[in-house]
Amino acid sequence: MAMFSRFKKTDDDGGAARPVAMAKVTQAMAAPLAKAEPSMAQPKARMQPPVAPKPAAQAVAQDKERKRRERLGEIKLELHKRLLDNLNLAALETATEANLRAEIAAIAGEALEEMSIVLNKEDRTTINQELYDEVMGLGPLEPLLKDETVNDILVNGPQRIFVERSGKLELTEITFKDERHLLRIIDKIVSAVGRRVDESNPYVDARLADGSRFNAMVPPVAVDGSLVSIRKFKKEKLGIPDLVRFGAFTEEMAAYLQAAVATRLNVIVSGGTGSGKTTTLNALSSFIDNRERILTIEDTAELQLQQIHVGRMESRPANVEGKGAVTQRDCLRNALRMRPDRIIVGETRGEEVIDMLQAMNTGHDGSMTTIHANSARDGISRLENMVAMAGIEMPIKAVRAQIASAVNLIVQASRLQDGSRRMVSITEITGMEGEVISMQEIFRYERLGMEPNGKIIGRFNATGVRSHYSERFKQWGYNLPPEIFDPIP
Ligand SMILES: Nc1ncnc2c1ncn2[C@@H]1O[C@H](COP(=O)(O)OP(=O)(O)OP(=O)(O)O)[C@@H](O)[C@H]1O
Ligand SMILES: [Mg+2]
Repeated sequence: MAMFSRFKKTDDDGGAARPVAMAKVTQAMAAPLAKAEPSMAQPKARMQPPVAPKPAAQAVAQDKERKRRERLGEIKLELHKRLLDNLNLAALETATEANLRAEIAAIAGEALEEMSIVLNKEDRTTINQELYDEVMGLGPLEPLLKDETVNDILVNGPQRIFVERSGKLELTEITFKDERHLLRIIDKIVSAVGRRVDESNPYVDARLADGSRFNAMVPPVAVDGSLVSIRKFKKEKLGIPDLVRFGAFTEEMAAYLQAAVATRLNVIVSGGTGSGKTTTLNALSSFIDNRERILTIEDTAELQLQQIHVGRMESRPANVEGKGAVTQRDCLRNALRMRPDRIIVGETRGEEVIDMLQAMNTGHDGSMTTIHANSARDGISRLENMVAMAGIEMPIKAVRAQIASAVNLIVQASRLQDGSRRMVSITEITGMEGEVISMQEIFRYERLGMEPNGKIIGRFNATGVRSHYSERFKQWGYNLPPEIFDPIP
């Protein structure tokens, strides 16, 4: 955190924000952030190249490769059957990985011999790995789960598996054999967490053993085969310095956000799906003091707070008999009895909004959440709608007054067309003017153009508006240099 603490007043060094340092800061700010998103280019195993007319020789080679894979697929299927007959399934639990691999290789070797099939070494290695993944892991999904460059895995029926890398979707060459194969893997995942998915229970949320968020929907509700979405869990969460380095926001914005979080403003991170809301929330939480008691509430636990005093809650849907549901609202209400300093709700999407606003208004300053919205203004409307949907009969002016006094700051996350994720706006809520909630934007991302390769050129800029909370920041010892609020012409 040290990097962003340099604007904080210290006893021995009042010059933390010396003009010299500022010159550097303004310079850094003026630099357009054209190449900010890291290129996560890495060898892409088995990915399809972009579709383009191919020379004949290449087409032949590809055809050969496809046939090879088909043949391997058939052999694998047969081997898998034999494996299940011959493996001592009970022993799987305790066997070491090396033993298991050796065992699988031995059984597969024998079976191949019986079937009089000769494979080269490479094919044998591939097939042994795939068999291992089938038995122990999630089959064809396994290599994608292990691939660090993949953020999301999206399955549209057995033949189409997409992945997201650096904000962009790509079709992979990986497939399931058929819908039954896909269903078997889905079943494996959900039964491991004591859930069921079938025609009468066609969709399910679960968490994979590695923490990844998993959602599946099966036919007939899913029309063309099961739909699966996986948000990969990253052990190494992106921190504030990473996000600054990637061009998600600037150091100046980080300094401002540090002041906002540390001085306990209530913050909402708003954004579209996959725009980086949870990542931002997680990174912002790093500005919370270690002595505070924080309670987190999520539908699927994704946040990874670094503080010592953290209590994590996860809501739970009803079981097969329709019993035992624990909603986010239940968790939130209970949390209020658990003496939290701050409450963090992973995503506010329903009736829990009432309790969230109340918590923010009644002594749990510094609470944070995310909402699904496309701008700060839109975010406010979403909150209003959620209150209305929760069945609270309150005049709109009263609802707005409550929102205005609960929420101090809305940061807007966005995934731009070129796949880069940026904090496109930081907006303060300043109160009410008549029936309208007044707000002022402090920082924004300005689009300046586009490179020929589709990469967006732009820069972050201040709007020139002084923070409504300047006094508060000062009182808490956060002396933000006024220059960070000056716009670059
Ligand atoms: N600034 C960034 N640069 C690069 N990758 C990022 C950035 N922000 C987030 N990501 C990655 O993008 C993916 C989606 O991020 P995240 O889960 O935070 O989005 P979200 O808005 O919470 O999505 P959802 O709406 O599905 O909950 C994650 O894999 C995350 O690691
Ligand atoms: Mg999220």
